Amino acid sequence: MKKKDFIIPFKYEDRRPIIINGLLYIPDNYFLHSQADIEILFNNTNPIFLEYCSGNGEWIIEKAKKFININWIAVEYSFDRARKIFVKKHNENIENLFIVFGEALIFTKCYLKDSFIDHVFINFPDPWPKTKHKKNRLVQNPFVIEVFRVLKENSFIEIATDHEKYKDQIVLEFLSTNYFRSFYKKPFFINELEEYGSSYFEKLYKKMNKQINYMKFKKIVSG
Ligand SMILES: C[S@@+](CC[C@H](N)C(=O)[O-])C[C@H]1O[C@@H](n2cnc3c(N)ncnc32)[C@H](O)[C@@H]1O
Repeated sequence: MKKKDFIIPFKYEDRRPIIINGLLYIPDNYFLHSQADIEILFNNTNPIFLEYCSGNGEWIIEKAKKFININWIAVEYSFDRARKIFVKKHNENIENLFIVFGEALIFTKCYLKDSFIDHVFINFPDPWPKTKHKKNRLVQNPFVIEVFRVLKENSFIEIATDHEKYKDQIVLEFLSTNYFRSFYKKPFFINELEEYGSSYFEKLYKKMNKQINYMKFKKIVSG
């Protein structure tokens, strides 16, 4: 499998969501997501762990190879980065890894069933540091509500970020809903986490001596 084998399987005017070769394509500038009749299926009943913002896939590929009895889903909206994950998945024959090439909130809202996911991770979501760009941050109330819906009860979401202000916002977004409880005591994050795994950005920030903040929230059981 080479880079050139990763092609968009439709012309722009025929764009539609489609699953091919273990990858779900979710087109941009498409307005029928909510009518999509697409279901992600695994041919086993193993737990499903999902990583948003997978980048080049370093973290999730390592996990998928190590934990073969878990189904892993990588979500990434950059063409180049989704392509990297796709090429590695096929060249290394990683059958328990499914890739979503699309936007995280749209994917979650329109393509994931209730209580489908056993564990969610987000490693270094883009912090959009400029005030005028903050609206682009992934972790905001609509996303938190969707994560709550798709997670199984008592399941966790774990998030790593180097960005202090985004870390504060993430804590606030999760704890202000009353849908999640922090696994870590006040101030609701830790700075060291053994065996978490490493990603391209984690290595980059550690080299720059930046502090990494790890957060973990548990979906509260309803009723
Ligand atoms: C800072 S990088 C981190 C990549 C990787 N997790 C790592 O730690 O090396 C953030 C990644 O999230 C992706 N991303 C940002 N917002 C996204 C969204 N709403 N949906 C899907 N992917 C997104 C970007 O394309 C980028 O690859």
